[in-house]
Amino acid sequence: MFDKESHPLTELSFLQQREQWKTEDIHVNDFQLEIAGHPVMETWEEPYMKKLAEIATTNGGRVLEVGFGLGIAASYIQNNSINEHHIIEANNQVFERMESFAKSAKCPTFLYSGFWEEISSNFEDEFFDGILFDTYPITFDELHTARFSFFSEAYRLLKVGGVFTHYSGELEFTDEYVKCLRQAGFKKFSGQSVLVNPPSDCLYWRSNQIMASIIIKN
Ligand SMILES: C[S@@+](CC[C@H](N)C(=O)[O-])C[C@H]1O[C@@H](n2cnc3c(N)ncnc32)[C@H](O)[C@@H]1O
Repeated sequence: MFDKESHPLTELSFLQQREQWKTEDIHVNDFQLEIAGHPVMETWEEPYMKKLAEIATTNGGRVLEVGFGLGIAASYIQNNSINEHHIIEANNQVFERMESFAKSAKCPTFLYSGFWEEISSNFEDEFFDGILFDTYPITFDELHTARFSFFSEAYRLLKVGGVFTHYSGELEFTDEYVKCLRQAGFKKFSGQSVLVNPPSDCLYWRSNQIMASIIIKN
């Protein structure tokens, strides 16, 4: 929806060292999670997170979530019928909130602290039935690529017939998006539009719709 150069997030300063993200203090209020001065997650996304959780849990079984944030999607994932919930989170203080969440979780929940880039290779091929990926661009260079960089790992980690979804930041499947999905191996994908109501000063989304992607490994 925003191109890289004109994206409002470019007005914010980004961390110089990726590693710093882990130890940054977080600021949470009724409206958002802020880390390093960035609006990492906002509560207007709730209907969207609900839809992503529904998609990622379509097949039940073992579900991977990347990026806990405010735990909105995590709660919806646990409301659906699954056997295991695995969550990777990079920020230490968000991780502590995730530990509290896991104490009252309905199904076995496994927590991993760190960047997915350091952790996901520990999982065997085809380990998961569903994946919900929602991280945040930590450095300026990741603004446009953060989600695309996970696609080939999502393909490796999913069982055949498994379902992958992620924060798309799109209204439709753009040529670049489709190219990245195909390069990762995905051939079957569709989208559903979700109605949302971001405030007019939201720095990362401006439309009253956002696409929930349903990406299936076949
Ligand atoms: C947009 S929030 C996730 C929101 C979440 N879906 C919810 O419903 O509240 C992004 C989260 O991903 C974490 N994160 C960012 N980059 C990451 C990475 N490379 N690996 C793991 N976690 C990451 C952030 O610390 C943050 O907690």
